[in-house]
Amino acid sequence: MSKTNAVLVTGGAGFIGSHMVLRLLQEGYTVYTLDNMYNADRRVFDRILKLAPESSKRLHVHTVDMRDPSGLACVFAAAEAIGDDIAAVIHFAGHKAVGESMANPMLYYTNNMVGSVNLIEAMVDAGVSKIVFSSSCTVYGQQDELPITEACSLGPQSPYGRTKYMVEEMLRDVAAAHDEWRVTSLRYFNPCGAHESGELGEDPQGAPMNLVPIVSQVALGTRDKVMVFGSDYNTHDGTAVRDYIHISDLIDGHLAALRELDSRPADEPRAKAFNLGTGTPVSVLDVINAMKAATGKEIAYELADRRPGDVEAAYADPAAAATGLGWRAEKTIADMCADSWRWWTSNPAGYATVKDEAAAPTPVDA
Ligand SMILES: NC(=O)c1ccc[n+]([C@@H]2O[C@H](COP(=O)([O-])OP(=O)(O)OC[C@H]3O[C@@H](n4cnc5c(N)ncnc54)[C@H](O)[C@@H]3O)[C@@H](O)[C@H]2O)c1
Repeated sequence: MSKTNAVLVTGGAGFIGSHMVLRLLQEGYTVYTLDNMYNADRRVFDRILKLAPESSKRLHVHTVDMRDPSGLACVFAAAEAIGDDIAAVIHFAGHKAVGESMANPMLYYTNNMVGSVNLIEAMVDAGVSKIVFSSSCTVYGQQDELPITEACSLGPQSPYGRTKYMVEEMLRDVAAAHDEWRVTSLRYFNPCGAHESGELGEDPQGAPMNLVPIVSQVALGTRDKVMVFGSDYNTHDGTAVRDYIHISDLIDGHLAALRELDSRPADEPRAKAFNLGTGTPVSVLDVINAMKAATGKEIAYELADRRPGDVEAAYADPAAAATGLGWRAEKTIADMCADSWRWWTSNPAGYATVKDEAAAPTPVDA
């Protein structure tokens, strides 16, 4: 890592990016973050600085759309101008909804692909050669063998999944062509939960599309019921099984990946991919029951037909990350529901929730 320990986080105002920015600041890094605020609320940075008040001078917030190469160049130039040496990038920015990507594929190809092409070009121009990329278990598609290892065949089933696959491949090609490049793609399973303080969490700008926020809304009373798509799967209770991972475990995985990038021996592959999951299969009804236990509330649900495109079960083999990154997830679905509940009850309107304390000013560089 360089003397300034600077890291650029793309999508730093989003759900996962904001938790990453906080953690990097707490670990002593200087953080440059860029986001076009498409699915974010800039008040998230007030919360980050509330949790890490001593680090305000090390946080540089840029409002930039990655489809604009000049905006990206400005971020690297801004760092250089004050003598910060960006040593690595953690690339979260992108759209992430499978269904939306089927309905509007070009939104995904333009945003996720063009944005990533521009980022890589800006990194090459700035001489930055280390990147951790937010990939997804959707790169695997339908798998008959479970748990899913990194050696499983890749076969994304949606435009969203294909953008993740293609960016992974693009980064692999760039690393093959440039000796100094080091790449880690992290294939997340189902991130959820919130920061344990209740100050940071998932604040989608439209209706949530992930199960835990939906179940949380039913517990809160802002949604009538959870629709459970498929109750005749070959799983322990008939409902679909996934691998839910707590946001704080996920962030620990990124820190481990950043450290591994810095110390990767020259004789190891320049581009690697790791699953980030717990390895524990959890069904839709398990999530509903865990939220019921965490909240003490009844959670109404309705069993419905299977949804086209949904797979019966998907969960990770996390062994490669344990060996290669020295990382393993520790939190359970009970922790994820308890922390989600704390977030939603303290912030029913997300970051728009008015708190009684005076808000710290958000530092915005550009
Ligand atoms: N949350 C999940 O379930 C999940 C699972 C697997 C992979 N991922 C990946 O992790 C990453 C982060 O996910 P998240 O849950 O934090 O999503 P998020 O939507 O909360 O965060 C993404 C951020 O990127 C920003 N963004 C989007 N397009 C941009 C652009 N062109 N320029 C600049 N900023 C842009 C958004 O405004 C948002 O703040 C995404 O790449 C997503 O595909 C997420």
